[in-house]
Amino acid sequence: MPKITIAIDGYSSCGKSTLAKALAAKLGYAYVDSGAMYRCITLYSLEKGLIKDHSFIEDEIIKIIPELQLSFEFNPITKLSETFMNGKNVEKEIRQMIVSENVSKISAIKAVRTRMIMIQRELGKNGGIVMDGRDIGTNVFPSADLKLFMTADPDIRTQRRLDELTSKGQFPTFLEVKQNLLSRDYEDTHRHENPLTQAKDAIVLDNSDLSREQQLEFVLRLIHDLTLKVD
Ligand code: C5P
Repeated sequence: MPKITIAIDGYSSCGKSTLAKALAAKLGYAYVDSGAMYRCITLYSLEKGLIKDHSFIEDEIIKIIPELQLSFEFNPITKLSETFMNGKNVEKEIRQMIVSENVSKISAIKAVRTRMIMIQRELGKNGGIVMDGRDIGTNVFPSADLKLFMTADPDIRTQRRLDELTSKGQFPTFLEVKQNLLSRDYEDTHRHENPLTQAKDAIVLDNSDLSREQQLEFVLRLIHDLTLKVD
């Protein structure tokens, strides 16, 4: 079976990474969480004191881009890929609300996107990859073999995200999480640089009423049909 490229885009907290990880594990592919990369530059900017009260100076952020070394390492205990920034495991820190509240502004900076997209294309140059994000099928890999565009009811997304944060020891309110999801969706779909849009050849997957197993089965069937054609 040829190794294909799978691009998954969609709104915040639609379960893109859950599906992407399950697909990568099932197919023996690499998984890249492109959102984690934008979260890292946001975390680094916060650590450097370059973001204050949700505002920042773009030129200062652009200057620190070359300092950022990003890598993903497979954790044999959790069996998940974890994000490393300048040699440190930041998987937990990049999921904090303070990072979520600022990441869409930082990811809209042109120079930030140019650098991240370069790394993403390098990681995916040999195929056999599942990458999730906001512009993977439209911009990073416009020739991806399979493009999915994921969506789900905002209240269901909020509850899923809240459950995830609670399980990690963070306790924001339902409203705080919902407002964050909706404002990120707004910023991500309205920015000038590579906004979130549905690629013309993407398959829409609304998983509001689907279990994880059902959505995985649905996509594996798509891949099966597709690879028969690619073979
Ligand atoms: O996927 P996740 O929710 O962790 O992404 C965090 C943020 O990173 C998104 O809200 C978006 O602003 C940005 N992002 C992006 N392009 C991508 C992936 C994520 O702009 N390909």
